[in-house]
Amino acid sequence: MNSPLSLGLIGIGGYGQRHLSTLSALQAGGLCRLMAIADPFAPRHESVVAALRAGHTAIHEDIADLLLDERIEACFIATPIPLHVPHTLAALGAGKHVYLEKPPCVTLEEWAQLSAAQEASGKRLAVGFQMQTAPAIHFLKARIVAGDIGRLQTVSAGVRWRRDDKYYNRSGWAGCWTAHGRPVFDGPATNALAHVVHAALFLSGATESSWGDVQRVRGRLKKARPIESYDAAFLEAQTANDVLVRLAFAHATPEQDEVVLTCIGENGRAEIHWSGAVSITPSGEAARHYHFSCESHVAATLDFFHALHDPSNRPHTRLEDCLAYLQTVNGALQSSGGATAFEPSQIHQRETDTGRGAYYTVTGLDDELAAFAADPAAIPSLLAPGEWIEAGDLKPQLAIA
Ligand SMILES: NC(=O)c1ccc[n+]([C@@H]2O[C@H](COP(=O)([O-])OP(=O)(O)OC[C@H]3O[C@@H](n4cnc5c(N)ncnc54)[C@H](O)[C@@H]3O)[C@@H](O)[C@H]2O)c1
Repeated sequence: MNSPLSLGLIGIGGYGQRHLSTLSALQAGGLCRLMAIADPFAPRHESVVAALRAGHTAIHEDIADLLLDERIEACFIATPIPLHVPHTLAALGAGKHVYLEKPPCVTLEEWAQLSAAQEASGKRLAVGFQMQTAPAIHFLKARIVAGDIGRLQTVSAGVRWRRDDKYYNRSGWAGCWTAHGRPVFDGPATNALAHVVHAALFLSGATESSWGDVQRVRGRLKKARPIESYDAAFLEAQTANDVLVRLAFAHATPEQDEVVLTCIGENGRAEIHWSGAVSITPSGEAARHYHFSCESHVAATLDFFHALHDPSNRPHTRLEDCLAYLQTVNGALQSSGGATAFEPSQIHQRETDTGRGAYYTVTGLDDELAAFAADPAAIPSLLAPGEWIEAGDLKPQLAIA
């Protein structure tokens, strides 16, 4: 039995609440001890802070004070996207292992900076793409690599997830390219549905544990909501093993689809649902159906603990596993040349009936995304991609100028 890990949590609101509840459960099970939290807005969570204090967790407003605590072995970082790099550099520099919420960073330059800092620190760094702990995705990947659907040709997903005023007003960085001088690149492919980009690239990888080796990328980013960044996107990456990863997403929609990734091979097709359902249909055979249960957030946290207890355990997503994700989203942005608004006559503002303010829709976009989800050859005309960008020509910084 390993001794409980001594932990710090940076960011306790928003998604940090999820970490707090998981770490509390694992602390009750004797697996860890939450020594301290840091959040300048901790006083906004008065009763949560009172409960933490009652459990002898130290409360800091400044991450620097938490990092001075030498008892803390590892930090969970669930802060806004533009703070991921400075917070991770500070934690690694203070000799802490890090579990960093997805996306790890925004640009390829930042990815290289974090990679160098991790290597210099000798510490573990897991990225919170928790869907990578789902048994369903590893089962499907193994079946694809074993050749059940023949040589893999495309991995695709078309997902409509409505996001309203309340979502965009929750934080100052929502819908931004940059915040406080740091890159953010907030939008469906780079925040809420980043898991889908990462999972699709994983399914495209040549071996059971590898992500696709991205050769070139194209894409289109558009907006219906009057935000700085984008709320609809098409992204396409071609890998070295000649798989096309094709993805289309929208927050400007009335719909809330279940995430389904479709894999088409020379000899059949397969689907994976976020719920854990997998179907595999080799050509000329009946579909085989499976359902895998998973508590992905808890599984991802335990997976990180395993990596800390035994360095030979590889975390579900290491920083190096995120290169394909960063190349794909940054390549789509570069290919798109930023994000332009849809035609004003196509944009409609609608009121939610839940008191969450307005959401946006775009004439024809929902139908195009539904058609694309059914057939990845049907690239949405409203999101027609720009030129291909070769991996070697990807810009290290955010390509918004
Ligand atoms: N894994 C998932 O499924 C999932 C789901 C949602 C969000 N996320 C990720 O979680 C991260 C946080 O997103 P969010 O929407 O919760 O953000 P948020 O803006 O709500 O901020 C999260 C917390 O960080 C705190 N914070 C702000 N500045 C800080 C600082 N300088 N030091 C310490 N804490 C600070 C805020 O007070 C807040 O409590 C993002 O990376 C997001 O992509 C992951």
